[in-house]
Amino acid sequence: MAEKEVVETSEAQIAVHWGEEEYYYPSPKFIAQANMTDEEVYDRFSLDNFPNCFKEYADLLDWYEYWDEILDSSDAPCYKWFKGGKINASYNCIDRHLAEYKNKTAIHFVPEPLEEGYQHITFQELYVRVNEFAALLRDFAGLKRGDRVTLHMPMIPELPITMLACARLGVIHSQVFGGFSGRACADRIVDSGSRVLITADAYYRSGTLLDHKQNADIAVDLAGKDGQTVDKVLIWQRYTGKASSPTPMVDGRDFFVNEELQNFYGARVEPEKMNAEDPLFLMYTSGTTGKPKGCQHGTGGYLAYTAGTSKYVQDIHPTDVYWCMADIGWITGHSYIVYGPLAIAASTVVYEGVPTYPDAGRAWRIAQDLDVNIFHTAPTAIRALRKIGPDEPAKYNYEFKHMTTVGEPIEPEVWKWYHKAVGQGKAAIVDTWWQTETGGFLCSTLPALQPMKPGSAGPGMPGIHPILYDDEGNEVPPGTGKAANICIQNPWPGMFQTIWGDRDRFVDTYFARYCKDPKSTKWQDWPYMTGDAAVIAEDGYVRILGRIDDVINVSGHRLGTKEIESASLVVEEVAEAAVIPVNHEIKGKEVELYVALKPGFEASDALAKKISDAVCDEIGKIAKPRMVWIVKDMPKTRSGKIMRRVLASISNNQDEGDVTTLANPEIVAEIKKQVQG
Ligand code: PRX
Repeated sequence: MAEKEVVETSEAQIAVHWGEEEYYYPSPKFIAQANMTDEEVYDRFSLDNFPNCFKEYADLLDWYEYWDEILDSSDAPCYKWFKGGKINASYNCIDRHLAEYKNKTAIHFVPEPLEEGYQHITFQELYVRVNEFAALLRDFAGLKRGDRVTLHMPMIPELPITMLACARLGVIHSQVFGGFSGRACADRIVDSGSRVLITADAYYRSGTLLDHKQNADIAVDLAGKDGQTVDKVLIWQRYTGKASSPTPMVDGRDFFVNEELQNFYGARVEPEKMNAEDPLFLMYTSGTTGKPKGCQHGTGGYLAYTAGTSKYVQDIHPTDVYWCMADIGWITGHSYIVYGPLAIAASTVVYEGVPTYPDAGRAWRIAQDLDVNIFHTAPTAIRALRKIGPDEPAKYNYEFKHMTTVGEPIEPEVWKWYHKAVGQGKAAIVDTWWQTETGGFLCSTLPALQPMKPGSAGPGMPGIHPILYDDEGNEVPPGTGKAANICIQNPWPGMFQTIWGDRDRFVDTYFARYCKDPKSTKWQDWPYMTGDAAVIAEDGYVRILGRIDDVINVSGHRLGTKEIESASLVVEEVAEAAVIPVNHEIKGKEVELYVALKPGFEASDALAKKISDAVCDEIGKIAKPRMVWIVKDMPKTRSGKIMRRVLASISNNQDEGDVTTLANPEIVAEIKKQVQG
C-alpha cells in the first residue's frame, strides 16, 4: 500500500469539473418497448435481498447443472458465484439460440475498406466456424480445459470466433489489444504462461493494411527470452488463401489457420461443462506499478452479469441491431460486443477500422446500411465525430432508440450534441461507469425507469451499492458535493475473481485500504475500492471525476504512468522519467513525458524522438507521448520524490501552487520557461 500513499498527481485534481445538469426523459415510445420497466427492481436488488437477488441474472442462462449456493465468500475477497453450477459460455452464446435464430445474423462484420462490403454471419454459421476451430485448437494445438492462450488479434470476425472456440473447450483466452506492441504481447504471454499465440497476418487501420504478423515474431522471441516458450503460432489470414504480410512464416511454429482448418471440416465439439467459477478469460489492465494486471473473470457470474446488463441497460432484444464501436481487445468489447449481446441472441456489429475513415460520415452510413438501432461508443469518439462532422448524422437515414457512452467522463456539451445530433433527440442515453475489473456496468440509469442527467453516470445498478469514503475511511453521504473515493459495498457476479497468479496484489490494490477486518469471510467487511474519485448527488446519481491513482485515461483507455516511465528508461541516456496527463479536447487526456538525462548526455530533438519511439515499441502507439520534455532536473521533494503534480500543472498551464518546500524550487521556473515559452 505504500505506493498508494505517495501518489502526487491524480487525474481528478486536474479534471474538468462541471455542475449538476437538468434531467432528460426517455420517450414513451422507448419505454413502451423496453426490457426493464419494473420499478420494483431496486427493491428486489436492495442490500437486504443481497446476494439472492442475482438469481434473476443467472436465470437468463442455460445451465447443465443448476447451482446450489449463490455466493461463496469463504475465501473473501475472492468470491465464487453460483457455486455448484455447470455451464458453458460458448453454448450459451450460440447453441441455445439455434432452434429459434439459426438464420439470424449473429455478427455483422464491417471491413474498413469501403469496397469490401459487409459480411453477415448467422448463428448457424457461427456455430459451424466455432466448432471447427475448437476442434483445431484441441486436436492440432493440443489445448485443453484450464490452459491459457494469448490472442493478439485485430477487429475481424475471427476474433469472437476464436474467443468462443476457447470458451467451448474451457481454454482461458487472454486477448491483447491489437494495437499493442510485440513487447506488450510478450509480457502477457509470459505472465499467463501461454504456449500458443493466435494472431492475424494483417488488418486495416485508416486505409493502410498493416503488417501484424511481425508483432508475433517479436512477441514470441521476447517471451522466449523471458522463459516462456511459444511452440505454435496460429495465424488467421485477413484474406483467406492470400499472404497479406511480408513477414515470413517460421517453419514448424507458424501455421495458417485456414490451411489447418481444412482437416476439421464438419467437426463438432461437445462444449465442456465448466464449473461456474472456472476462469473464462484474462484481461490485462494497467495499474500503479509497471506490471500489467491479469484480471481473471469467471464463467457463470461474468456471463450472467453481462447478459443481464445487456438486456436491461442496453435494452437489447434479439430483433435489434446493436453496434458497440469499441475494440474487442478491451473489456468493453469482451462484455458488450461479444459475451453479453450474444448471450441474449443479439445481432452484434464488428467494425474493423477507425470511426472517421474515410470521412466523418462513415459511422452513420454503417448505421443506415445495417439499420443499427442501438449504438455504443466512448466520449473520445463522440468528441472527434462532433468536431470533424457536426452535421453529418443528419445526412443519413437511421434511427437509434438507445445509445451508450462509456470509458471516461463526458462533458455535458458533448452529451447534448450526442443526444440531439446523433440520437435525434429521441434515443435514450445511458452513461455507463465501470472498469476492466468489474466485468460489467457499476453505475448507470436503467433507461426506461430513470431520467438521464448529462455528465452523470446515474445511480448504482440494481444490486450494486456504491459508497464514498474519504481518505480516513469515513463515509461521505450523498448530496454534500464533496468528492471522495468511490467504493462498492458488496460483491457482484461480474466482478473479477483475482489478479492472475497474484492474490496478494488483488487484495492490496482493491481491498486493503478500506477492509474492516482482513481475516473476515463476510463480504460486508470487504468494500471494493475502484480507484476513482466521484461525487454523489442528492438524487443518488454518481459523477465520476477521474482516477486517484497513477493511471491515465487516454481516449478511454487505461495507461499506467509507471509502464510508460519504465518504457522510457530502456533508453540508455535516460536517468529519470515522469509521466503526467494533459487535458486534450478530443482524447480527454494525453500523455506528456518529462525525462532527465544521465550525466554526460545532451538533450536533442533526435534523443526526444528516440525516447518517444521507445515508448511506442514497448507499449504501442496508443501510449505515444504528445511531448517529451528533456529537463535539466526533476522537481523533487526533500525525500527525493519526483513531484509529478508540479509538472502536470506546468503542462496544463495551471498554477503550480507552493513549491518552496521542494529540494530544488528553482528548477520549476526553468521548466516552466522551457515548456510554456
Ligand atoms: O476512471 C474510470 C473510467 O475508466 C476507468 C476504467 O477503465 P478501463 O478498465 O479501461 O475500462 C473502461 C471501460 C469500462 C474507470 O476507473 N471510466 C469508465 N467509464 C466511465 C469512466 N469515467 C467516467 N464515466 C464513465 N462512464
